[in-house]
Amino acid sequence: MLERINQIHDEAVAEIESADTAAALEELRIRHLGRKAELPNLLRGVAQLPPQERGAVGKRANEVRRALEELIESRSAALEATELDARLVTDRVDVTLPGDPPQPVGRLHLITATRREIEDVFIGLGFDVVEGPEVETVFYNFDALNHDPAHPARSRSDTFYVDDDTVLRTHTSPMQIRAMQQWPPPLAIIVPGRVYRPDSDATHTPQFTQIEGLCVDEDITLADLKGVLLAFARAIFGDEREIRLRPHFFPFTEPSVEVDVSCFNCARDGSPCRLCKGSGWIEILGSGMVDPNVFGYVREHGYDPEKVQGFAFGMGVERIAMLKHGVPDLRLFFDNDLRFLEQFG
Ligand code: PHE
Repeated sequence: MLERINQIHDEAVAEIESADTAAALEELRIRHLGRKAELPNLLRGVAQLPPQERGAVGKRANEVRRALEELIESRSAALEATELDARLVTDRVDVTLPGDPPQPVGRLHLITATRREIEDVFIGLGFDVVEGPEVETVFYNFDALNHDPAHPARSRSDTFYVDDDTVLRTHTSPMQIRAMQQWPPPLAIIVPGRVYRPDSDATHTPQFTQIEGLCVDEDITLADLKGVLLAFARAIFGDEREIRLRPHFFPFTEPSVEVDVSCFNCARDGSPCRLCKGSGWIEILGSGMVDPNVFGYVREHGYDPEKVQGFAFGMGVERIAMLKHGVPDLRLFFDNDLRFLEQFG
């Protein structure tokens, strides 16, 4: 009897050790330890044996059963680990691969694409891109930009007030002051961002996008402004373009100019041009030389009005995009009509 038990043990151990799948192992467990298996039957029959054999047989049978259970257990853990490893290798998902079948990925909104295009031009000219708060203090939005206390832009009908000292910024120009407080000259930055004004018609929306420019050093002149803006106009509207500066007024630049680009739309067939209305010029932005009074607000940050000078400009991104792509109504940008949006990019 003992011999048979040892035989069962040796056979089972050999089989279990060579089992190479969890399913094969489970089958061996049933075959050797299941209800109908030989070893459990033997154990159940121990009571019928002659008393002098019972002890030794029962002990050995129990030992073998426990040994087989333990062996199956550890073999099963080992198999699970290798099967998991194998699955991890074959099931590996590369989330950076394109979809299969490839899915449409969408596109940048024309305002975003235009903003980035303009940023790239100025980055190429050595400007840094910085951003600032959309909820702004009256000090940064108006006072430090040299606005007279009675300036009409301050009125509640022209500006969204959060409280008496706080507005939704009406332009990106407040970042001129914040940037000069933060970094000493020489400084060359552009500031893209959302701005807010209570206007609404085909060419005005209560929220729109501007890009501010500011360049300050000891020897910056209007010629630098003109050179930079000419490079910008040519990069965006074509190498053939010219620009012209017209006298204008902004509280924070002196002199101030409005900048026109030569028309890129004038029909070669002689019909009247819708864009420039026959004048040959299209207004694209406002700019000028930084008013010394503005430097006065950041004097202690290294901007002595007697020593530094610079130029600033501000443009509307929507306006640039409308001109460049012939978009007739500003509100199309915000309607989210795919028939419009899908034409770009
Ligand atoms: N902030 C002015 C506007 O919104 C534009 C501007 C910027 C003009 C910088 C001059 C210099 O109209």
